[in-house]
Amino acid sequence: MIPFVDLKTQYQSLKPEIDAAIQKVIDDCAFVHGKYCEEFENNFARACEKAICIGTSNGTTALELALRAYSIGPGDEVIVPSHTFIATAEVVSILGATPVFAEIDESTYTIDPKDIEKRITPKTKAIIPVHLYGQAADMDSILEIAQKHNLKVIEDCAQAHLAKYKGKTVPVGEIGCFSFFPGKNLGAYGDAGAVVTDNPELAKKISQFLNHGREKGEKYKHTSIGNNYRMDGLQGAILNVKLKYLQKWTDHRRAAAQKYRDGLSAPTSTNTALPQGGSVPSSAAAPTFAANSEANPLLLPFEADYAYHVYHLFVLRSPRRDEIIKKLRENQIECGIHYPIPLHLQPAYANLGYKEGDFPVTEKIVKEIFSLPICGEVTDESIEKVISAISI
Ligand SMILES: Cc1ncc(COP(=O)(O)O)c(C=O)c1O
Repeated sequence: MIPFVDLKTQYQSLKPEIDAAIQKVIDDCAFVHGKYCEEFENNFARACEKAICIGTSNGTTALELALRAYSIGPGDEVIVPSHTFIATAEVVSILGATPVFAEIDESTYTIDPKDIEKRITPKTKAIIPVHLYGQAADMDSILEIAQKHNLKVIEDCAQAHLAKYKGKTVPVGEIGCFSFFPGKNLGAYGDAGAVVTDNPELAKKISQFLNHGREKGEKYKHTSIGNNYRMDGLQGAILNVKLKYLQKWTDHRRAAAQKYRDGLSAPTSTNTALPQGGSVPSSAAAPTFAANSEANPLLLPFEADYAYHVYHLFVLRSPRRDEIIKKLRENQIECGIHYPIPLHLQPAYANLGYKEGDFPVTEKIVKEIFSLPICGEVTDESIEKVISAISI
């Protein structure tokens, strides 16, 4: 079996360090937040080139906290891509605001800035671009639109630890939210997340809310109504060990992506048409399929000129996606679809009144995308097996 993400091998390679870190938390009874989380927060802030990192219970609560810090609530609209994990929109709904879905760019699969502009109304308060699959959204354009219309920008970095936009580590703007779900590029041993920012005012609001509205250092004085969204001490200690290896794992992911590219584009000359990097084409020039073999039209992931892609996911496109997935599964290769149902067509959002045909690019690509195994431990042998299973 070739696993999609190999957490067992990763643990075996770090076992003595991880076990010692866990034991220390237990010995110190530092179970809830505490010094091991603080150590991790300091190191992760540095890794993100931000002044402040606040550990949270998961990536969803991190997003919710960021929206709360901007006082987003009932009557407000927040623009989010329809093509993302539901948490991006869910937090908007949790706060009583309305998610307004936007189309994606067909090359990068991230939110299309041109479509954002069309969806702005007097009620719009914020945009949540998602750095999907490990590649940053087109942030200059997004920040320019936000500035013009006085909107907040909250970057969903859940899939983009150490990703860069024009050489700058994400988040590019004022605030970014991360998930450390176990399968993420930096994963905890349970749920965890973080908000990073340079803005101490936002950080103060977030730190208070996630800890029952407590004043710093005051156990039973509550200046506001908050909640319990704190990071676990064990998760902080584990993440702090794993953070040291994140760049090495990222290098490995990028090298694996290149091996997939080389292997999958080798067979025919038509593959010179496969996009491997460059400026984001205008939507008029949608990427074209090239044949990996006669029977297998494939489209490799596009790397924008501005991007340092960290390949949380290696996502291909093919009109014969379902047959390819069947073949991969027959060959004991795990694969996935991220994501098969766009948010505007989710039953949970039926009340918003979107319909099939509202987002043609999103609706087209969700029928064609599939994700191959990729992680810091994926072996050359596994990559070769995946390539030959697809190329049969
Ligand atoms: C794009 C995106 N946003 C938000 C989340 C939510 O993170 P979590 O699962 O840690 O709550 C995820 C994680 O699955 C994600 O992929």
